[in-house]
Amino acid sequence: MSDVASIDALVAEAEARFALAADAASLENVKARYLGRSGALTELLKGLGRLAPEERRETGGRINEAKARIERSLEEQRARLRNEALEKKLREEAIDVTLPGRGSGQGGLHPITRVRVRIEALFHSLGFDVAEGPEIESDFFNFTALNMPENHPARSMHDTFYVEGGKHLLRTHTSPIQIHYMRSHRPPLRVLAPGRVYRSDSDATHSPMFHQVEGLWVDEGVSLANLKGVAIEFLQRFFERTDLRVRFRPSFFPFTEPSAEIDMSFGDGWLEIGDCGMVHPNVLRHGSIDPQRYQGFAFGMGIDRLAMLRYGVDDLRLFFQNDLRFLRQFA
Ligand code: DAH
Repeated sequence: MSDVASIDALVAEAEARFALAADAASLENVKARYLGRSGALTELLKGLGRLAPEERRETGGRINEAKARIERSLEEQRARLRNEALEKKLREEAIDVTLPGRGSGQGGLHPITRVRVRIEALFHSLGFDVAEGPEIESDFFNFTALNMPENHPARSMHDTFYVEGGKHLLRTHTSPIQIHYMRSHRPPLRVLAPGRVYRSDSDATHSPMFHQVEGLWVDEGVSLANLKGVAIEFLQRFFERTDLRVRFRPSFFPFTEPSAEIDMSFGDGWLEIGDCGMVHPNVLRHGSIDPQRYQGFAFGMGIDRLAMLRYGVDDLRLFFQNDLRFLRQFA
């Protein structure tokens, strides 16, 4: 069993297995089978005692030689694995210094935000404060307090999104902010209230979520003439055209009396740009303001509409699709 051929075969087998080891741990495992305390070579050495002295020396020499070859092979394979591990690490940790940097993209204001800020600044210069209100409103603030009691036909024109239960809704206009503001401030008051509003409506010029801005001026002796002056001043400044003309077209809203639609000259014709009127006495009362002493005017405009006109955008939906190629043009 310890003849030359079988010892050579054992060495060849060890070399082959060492070469197959994929990592240091499995190499050391394989090593134990040949060089360990109960490994194949140790077994061979143990067998020497049964041999005649002559044979013992010769076979012992061959076994030692085999052991040296196996140890050399083991060393070579350890070196191979060390190299492989190092190369793998170098490959994985390589940094391609020619790659362009990611950078931090520059942000910008959304065009609707830009227009809202512009409207706020213009009204601020006319002495208006800015106020906000909740987007989830009670039926009372959105309708009843604005002189649209339950079953009032004007309610059905609002395509309202009701919150489950029916007592709350997504506000359909910014007008309820009038009531909140009147209840928390005493006249004289001048306020501008921008915000998101919601209606179940969707096409190129209607989005289920859109933006309005509400204006309210309450004081002793406020008249239609003041309303007209403010509207003209604002529109001329917003569109940067002093030749822009404004027309008030009679209309109806439950919360104003009289009511009108605001049109502005546009090319050869007229374009509707907002709604307005003198605040209805019932609305002042819901705002805890005495209509005998105070009068006021109110108006509402679509911010998105103003943005479309200012930037020449003909599809409202573009503003809300978040396509950076579109939005970047305004940054
Ligand atoms: N809230 C109305 C709407 O969204 C617009 C409106 C009309 C607002 C007349 C006003 C106003 O303040 O006086 O349809």
